[in-house]
Amino acid sequence: MKSKRDFLTLRSFSAQELNQVIKRAHELKRLQLAGVEHRPLQGKTAALILELASTRTRVAFEAGMFQLGGHMIYLDPTVSHLGRGEPVSDTAAVLSGIVDIVIIRSLSQETVESFARTATVPVINAMTRYQHPCQILADIQTFEELRESIAGKRVAFVGDGYNMCNSYIEASSLWDFELRISAPEGYRPAAELLRANPRSTVVATPADAITGADLVITDVWSSMGHDAEKSARKKAFAPYQVTEALLDKAAADVLFMHCLPAHRGEEISETLLDDPRSVAFPESHNRLHSQKALLEFLLS
Ligand code: CP
Repeated sequence: MKSKRDFLTLRSFSAQELNQVIKRAHELKRLQLAGVEHRPLQGKTAALILELASTRTRVAFEAGMFQLGGHMIYLDPTVSHLGRGEPVSDTAAVLSGIVDIVIIRSLSQETVESFARTATVPVINAMTRYQHPCQILADIQTFEELRESIAGKRVAFVGDGYNMCNSYIEASSLWDFELRISAPEGYRPAAELLRANPRSTVVATPADAITGADLVITDVWSSMGHDAEKSARKKAFAPYQVTEALLDKAAADVLFMHCLPAHRGEEISETLLDDPRSVAFPESHNRLHSQKALLEFLLS
């Protein structure tokens, strides 16, 4: 019997498999834009569990599953037994006999990994405090679409050394690009993760990270789970706002990405999303195509 595959961090896949998914994302986008129906997942059902808010991830998975011919059931933990204490492992065992794949967003990476250990169907990490691998698929797709291969490029991450930063650190090894990270002390990524991914380094200032970069990324200063720390974070991150003037230090054809939602006037200037170098909205649209490619990969 073929063993099931999960997508819990980017490291769940080899570099070759990740590139296969991205290549397929480009193809599925072309099919979709040409109005060609492609329904390989007819008869398949996905369950989507979101313990945290979501706009892009949810809509992209739901629309994607529909376009591929499958069906998706959204399980809101506040109105399912997950929110009333039914153990994750019991839920995983039950859903494995009913649906074909489970997509789960939780603050806890351990919850997602524990779900995957019990489930006999594939499990996708739709974001935890540790990783956001689905977002990276869309980002790489967007970079390739608008430029070329990201291998050998210089990438800057400015801001919180949290889930997006951690996934970019893994991505730097898997796609072989240089990642320069600028984050305030106390908000830097774990040294262990950096040691395991030597293409990523922490630099002193946002300007040091951005100078000469081909791609610049940031994320909100207070992600879900940081609500109690908002004012301390605003103070610590104030010197880390990405502005048009900072982007001027990057390569002439730099792209700026943000996984969204963005807080204008905090991690980015009020107008950065309107700058022609910003591709945050096309990036969000590619969540659809890259997640369709991921579903197809895991279910075909
Ligand atoms: N970027 C991202 O994951 O967006 P949502 O939180 O809206 O899903």
